Amino acid sequence: MIIKIYSTLRFIVIVTLVMVFGCQPAQKTTEENKALDEEKYRPQFHFSPEENWMNDPNGMVYYEGEYHLFYQYYPDSNVWGPMHWGHAVSTDMMNWEHLPIALYPDELGYIFSGSAVIDWNNTSGLGTEDNPPMVAIFTYHDPVGADKKSLDHQNQGIAYSLDKGRTWTKYDNNPVLVNPGITDFRDPKVSWMEEFDGWVMALAVKDHIEFYTSDDLIEWTKESEFGQGIGGHGGVWECPDLFKLKTEDGEERWVLFVSINPGGPQGGSATQYFLGEFDGSNFVPQDSVTRWIDLGADNYAGVTWSDIPAEDGRQLFLGWMSNWDYGQEVPTYKWRSAMTLPRELILTKIGEELILQSKPVEEIKSYLTAVETTSEEDGYVLPDELVMIELNGFDAMNLKASLSNEKGEKVGFTISPESIAFDRSSSGQTDFGKGFAAMHSYENFLEDLRKVQIYIDRASIEIFINDGEFVMTELVFPTQPYSKFVISSGNAEVKMAKVSSIWDEK
Ligand code: FRU
Repeated sequence: MIIKIYSTLRFIVIVTLVMVFGCQPAQKTTEENKALDEEKYRPQFHFSPEENWMNDPNGMVYYEGEYHLFYQYYPDSNVWGPMHWGHAVSTDMMNWEHLPIALYPDELGYIFSGSAVIDWNNTSGLGTEDNPPMVAIFTYHDPVGADKKSLDHQNQGIAYSLDKGRTWTKYDNNPVLVNPGITDFRDPKVSWMEEFDGWVMALAVKDHIEFYTSDDLIEWTKESEFGQGIGGHGGVWECPDLFKLKTEDGEERWVLFVSINPGGPQGGSATQYFLGEFDGSNFVPQDSVTRWIDLGADNYAGVTWSDIPAEDGRQLFLGWMSNWDYGQEVPTYKWRSAMTLPRELILTKIGEELILQSKPVEEIKSYLTAVETTSEEDGYVLPDELVMIELNGFDAMNLKASLSNEKGEKVGFTISPESIAFDRSSSGQTDFGKGFAAMHSYENFLEDLRKVQIYIDRASIEIFINDGEFVMTELVFPTQPYSKFVISSGNAEVKMAKVSSIWDEK
């Protein structure tokens, strides 16, 4: 009897407690979230801002021994907001020094994406012959106009620096390229094109790219449009880039990057590219094939560095390692987002097809320390949470492998002649954002399987097949690091290397 009364009482107490507190979701404050975060998912060999929100890489330019990385930045919150250009520099594209914010919003608007160049001949007159200006060309996004649904709230402005990007002055007569009345009119990527003796700008305009030319970075003339009715059009066109590459055999192509959001092969954001000819005014594609620079879900808005010295000659790239579908909800709080590994872009022929290969830059090698590979009955043991796994000597064109931890969280991937697939549906925390828990796959035309490299950071996995002929970049949030690597079908020689943190003193 006593037991019965006691258990009834206990039932009432529990029901009351549930009624009072149970219906309220356990809201955490930003401070609590920051504490929870404890840098658990802080990328160790990828760039991330110290705090708060980052998206696209901007103004990537090399000058006097430094790679500059500016980026879309909102310093007051961990979600997107009034855009600034954050800034960092590096001598190897891996280890970054954070610098103060370079560009702040002003009365013309937020500072959206764009590029930076060194105006070696001082064509703009903003520097001197002896001290050529570093010029940033970006989009002003006027939030008031945007709210009023005005059509012309995005215009292009410029700013310059005479001290290696440390301090910036906005040009007095901004904007330099005025919107003709089209809602999406942004993300200028400018290059000096020696063969056309002038500046060329690729600009994303709603559903196409427009090309403009200039002698001085200030007066711009429209040359042409490209893109309606060709390529992926699942979303708005953003962040173009245009450059020329040559294959080993001397075959040349112009490469045009166009990021689209949504409409990517894995849902949400992705970057497509076109191969073709450019004559200084018009881009003519070689065919109507839609190609993607990365088959994974998390490589967006990437462009290439300008002013890489001729003696280096590489085309160097990195992208925003996220996706607009869930980028603002990923389970990091103190900061949000990272960049992909820096990659060298190479034009390569596979059979009859020309493709853009993206290979991790050479500089990464000095962050790798080979370790002996140990295996247990149920798979290979990962020596650390920061690992590069390299597979060679395949016995067939098939590989099915997985990474997992003691909690049973698991990432599986498959490479076959038909498709490449990456399954992150049980990879750890997955329920924070739209469509994150998914299996991503893509048809391919793999002709042989020679080498696979898997770079595992705390919250990302990048898979490079045959030195980047095919790439998959994917975010993952395991609640504890993956510790096992299992090959369940196919056979290959397995090597491992620890990756050292780019934030450590070198
Ligand atoms: C791409 C993008 C750009 C724009 C910027 C705003 O991710 O939408 O088109 O300039 O982000 O932050």
